[in-house]
Amino acid sequence: MAIDIEKVRKQFPALSQKVNGKDLIYFDNAASTLKAKPVINALDQHYQKDTANVHRGLHFLSEKGTRQFEETREAVQKFIGSEHSHEIIFTKGTTESINLVAQCFGDAFLQEGDEILLSTLEHHSNIVPWQIIAQKKGAIVKEIPINEEGEILLEEYKKLLNNKTKVVSISHTSNALGTINPIEEMIPMAHKVGSIFMVDAAQAVAHNSLNVKELNCDFLAFSSHKIFGPTGVGVLYGKEELLNKMPPYQGGGEMIDKVSFKKTTFNELPFKFEAGTPHIAGVIALKSALDYVQEIGLENIAHYEQELLEYATEKLQKIEGLKIVGTSKRKASVLSFVMEGIHPQDIGSLLDKQGIAIRTGHHCTQPLMEFLNIPGTARASLCFYNTKEEIDAFITGLHKVKEFF
Ligand code: ALA
Repeated sequence: MAIDIEKVRKQFPALSQKVNGKDLIYFDNAASTLKAKPVINALDQHYQKDTANVHRGLHFLSEKGTRQFEETREAVQKFIGSEHSHEIIFTKGTTESINLVAQCFGDAFLQEGDEILLSTLEHHSNIVPWQIIAQKKGAIVKEIPINEEGEILLEEYKKLLNNKTKVVSISHTSNALGTINPIEEMIPMAHKVGSIFMVDAAQAVAHNSLNVKELNCDFLAFSSHKIFGPTGVGVLYGKEELLNKMPPYQGGGEMIDKVSFKKTTFNELPFKFEAGTPHIAGVIALKSALDYVQEIGLENIAHYEQELLEYATEKLQKIEGLKIVGTSKRKASVLSFVMEGIHPQDIGSLLDKQGIAIRTGHHCTQPLMEFLNIPGTARASLCFYNTKEEIDAFITGLHKVKEFF
C-alpha cells in the first residue's frame, strides 16, 4: 500500500516550519526522528490532566497512569513479538539498555578470559559498556572485521567464535553507514558455541519490523525517540530466563520487594530492573508512536524508504568528487558520504543555511572511521515523511556547496 505522504507530513508539525528562511528539510532521522501529533497530544494530555506517579497511589489518576504505562509495555511486547510483557524493561534509551545488560549479565555470567564479540561497525554505546565490564571481569573484547563496503565478514566471525565466547552484541542496522547486518545468520552461530546474542536495534526499529521470537535473540534494545516517540525512554527486551538470573541494575523505588537493614529482597520482572520514578509521560506517549507506525505499516515504510534510498543514491553518484561511504547490498535509507576537498562539517553548515538538516562527524563510531581512514562523513538519513522533491533540493544544495569551494 502506498503511503499518503501529504497526509503523513501533516501529522508532523515540525515539517511545516522554515529554518534559515527555507522550508525545513529534515534528513537527520538517524539522530532523532520528528514527533507525530498523536505523540505530542499524549504528552500534552498527561501533563495537562493526568499527572500522577505510577504503581504507587490508589487514587484515580495514579491508577489511570499505571494502566496506560502497562498498556505501553503490552504494546511493545506485541510490536517486537516477545513471549511475555514482563520481558520488556523501560530504560532511558538504547545506551542505558546496553549498559544494563553489560553490567548485570556481566556480573552474573562473565569470568576471566571470556570473550565478547562486537563488530567494527558498532556505535560507541555498543562498545564502551562492554569494555567497562570486560575490564572489571578480566574478559576480552574482540572485533569482528568488516569489508570496505561496510559489511560484516561472516567467515571472520565464524573464526572468532569459540567456547570462550559469552556475548555477541551487534547492531541490526549501522547508524553511520546504514548497513543491515545479517543477524538472522549470526544469532544461531553464536548460540551454537553457547554465547548469548544482543541486538542493538536503535536504527532499525522505525524502519523494519522486528520479531524477537523469530530472531531468537537474547536481548534487544531500542530508543523511543528514534521511532517518533519522546526522548528519555528506551526499551530493553530480555529473555525471561536470563533476566531472572541477573542481579538488579540500580537500587531504589519500584525494584524492591521488602527492605530491611538485615536483608532486602527484590521485586519480580519487569520491576526488578525499573528503579525510581520512570519517564511516565514518555512511556505512555511511546504507545501512540507505535500505534501510529503500525497504522502506516512497517512494510509500507520499508518499501518507500528503499525507493528514496535508490533515488538519492543514483543522484549522489552523479556528483563529481562525491563518494558514498557504505555500499552494503542490504542497506537502510542512510547516505554517508565525503566530498573531495570539502570537510564534512562545512558541507553540514552550508546545507543548514539552506534549511537542510544532516549530521556530520564520526557519528559515535570512531573505530569504524579509523578503519575507513577518514575523520568523518556527512550523513543524510531519510524517513517515510521525506520526499523525492526534498532529495532534489538536497542535491541542488550539494551543488551549491561545491560551487562555494
Ligand atoms: N546514534 C545517533 C546518530 O547516529 C545519535 O546520530
